[in-house]
Amino acid sequence: MTRQVILYCGAEARGQAWARQVAEATDDLELRLWPNGGDLREVDYLAAWIPPDGLIARLPNVRAVFSVGAGVDQLDLSAIPPHVPLARMVEPGIEACLTAWVAMAVLVLHRDLPAYLAQQRREVWRGLAVRPPAECRVGVLGMGRLGQSAARALLGLGFQVAGWSRGAKSVPGITCFHGADGFEVLLANTDILVCLLPLTAGTEGILNAAAFARLKHGAGLVNAGRGGHLVEPDLLAALESGQVSAAVLDVAREEPLPAGHPFWRHERIMLTPHVGAVTQTETGIAALIANVRRHQRGEALEGLVDRSLGY
Ligand code: GLV
Repeated sequence: MTRQVILYCGAEARGQAWARQVAEATDDLELRLWPNGGDLREVDYLAAWIPPDGLIARLPNVRAVFSVGAGVDQLDLSAIPPHVPLARMVEPGIEACLTAWVAMAVLVLHRDLPAYLAQQRREVWRGLAVRPPAECRVGVLGMGRLGQSAARALLGLGFQVAGWSRGAKSVPGITCFHGADGFEVLLANTDILVCLLPLTAGTEGILNAAAFARLKHGAGLVNAGRGGHLVEPDLLAALESGQVSAAVLDVAREEPLPAGHPFWRHERIMLTPHVGAVTQTETGIAALIANVRRHQRGEALEGLVDRSLGY
């Protein structure tokens, strides 16, 4: 039987595990690791994080492209022929990891961890005001699967939770806003702002001075979207003025964050190195195979990207 070929471009250890799992779980698929792709005319599917420039043009028979991560902004969409569907990775491991990371980040801000870490370094034992989560309003930007999962977890921790998305959504227990007017209303009613948006032309730079000015004075910021959502000098200015009290960031405009960047040593910024969600080996390959099967059956792909929207 001729096997259909998935070409994988991404972290090597995961690729090796995926190649083994595909061989064990199927007899009609083969996962090859770039750059050992063999005859590229044989490639039916591309599963990639950041493919090398020009690779897609060298795959004349590619039938679908799968992002190995939750986002697709790292891919050059114009390099993918219009008839080739593109899907982002939708798998429960990403959702579980990101939900836990967002809960951590919101709790870090709600319970003043940046201030306590600074106090600890100065050997200061002093309690700050303690408020129950029910008095804290968290606004989640982006109410797709990941945003809704994080919002539900925050609701479970007792926070007041509102969400904002491009189009209207309805999620039990969560006040949902949409569109430009809804954005302003959400900001005006937010103590901790969480960004989980996809990066598109419409969301680039959305975390900027104008948005910060609408928040309650002293609001907290969490960014687990993309570095491109944040106008970094605007955050530094908002921290300086106290308009934003502290920020927890998993992403930066330039990753790794360059040496000497002011975020490294800022007392009121806590950073993690883009680890909020990482595609999990086991659940990720199951999701990839399931999506290949959908394609083979002529069904719509899970996580199908609308190119006109960019996500
Ligand atoms: C991580 O940021 C991802 O897109 O999976």
